[in-house]
Amino acid sequence: MAVGSLVGPLGARLQSLFDLIDDVQGQSLNRYDRIWDCCCDHGYLGIKIVEAELCDKLVFVDQVPHIIQWLDSKLDVLPRERFDLIAGDAADLIFDPGQRHLVILAGVGGSTIITIIGAILKIYGENGIDFLLCPTNGVFEVREYLIEEQISLMDEWIVSEKGRQYEVIHIRAGAGIDEYVKVSLIGNMWNVNDQEHEAYLKKILAHYQRAEQGDDAERSKMILEEYRGIC
Ligand SMILES: C[S@@+](CC[C@H](N)C(=O)[O-])C[C@H]1O[C@@H](n2cnc3c(N)ncnc32)[C@H](O)[C@@H]1O
Repeated sequence: MAVGSLVGPLGARLQSLFDLIDDVQGQSLNRYDRIWDCCCDHGYLGIKIVEAELCDKLVFVDQVPHIIQWLDSKLDVLPRERFDLIAGDAADLIFDPGQRHLVILAGVGGSTIITIIGAILKIYGENGIDFLLCPTNGVFEVREYLIEEQISLMDEWIVSEKGRQYEVIHIRAGAGIDEYVKVSLIGNMWNVNDQEHEAYLKKILAHYQRAEQGDDAERSKMILEEYRGIC
């Protein structure tokens, strides 16, 4: 365990989200007032953010009450004014429109991410809310949704952890978009000379080649064509 920390070092996936937040919070103009560690489970990322004092308040959110109760007791030693805890659905959050918000949705599937963003934007679509996404699956569907909703891309990358690759997408919805940057269906972050990217692409191609033999053949074929364009 890191000295002075409640938790050990973050894995590469969560560390890459932490690094982005650390970077943004270092720029006084773009600083988020509230950071929401939604679907937080163990709360590792949120804990590191609170410990590093990267925002005025971090909110841990998980729909499982005993996870939040457990976190509440574990976080006893952290300054209480720096965090809140919510046991509930991340789709039901209430945002102060006078503040800048970053909603982290990591470690959950694409359909959960789409449902949560949709519910939030239904109410706060005009307010300007940023999201940091790291889906465990269904990333193509997430990207389709972001394009449909005209949500603007801020940054995206691929991160590898324990032989598995994840896409991270930092986006802005609603007001406050200086220059709209369209999200692309497969991402613009590919580096064909990077072995991890190559391994990830192979897995995606294999997945949709299998899917092409199933019920959704036409759609899988279309998606395959998109990814084949990277090679
Ligand atoms: C695998 S953990 C992810 C933990 C952490 N975010 C990460 O990336 O390592 C997924 C957590 O999401 C929570 N969850 C799933 N859907 C949710 C929702 N709609 N609202 C709040 N929490 C949710 C689950 O209870 C579970 O604890």
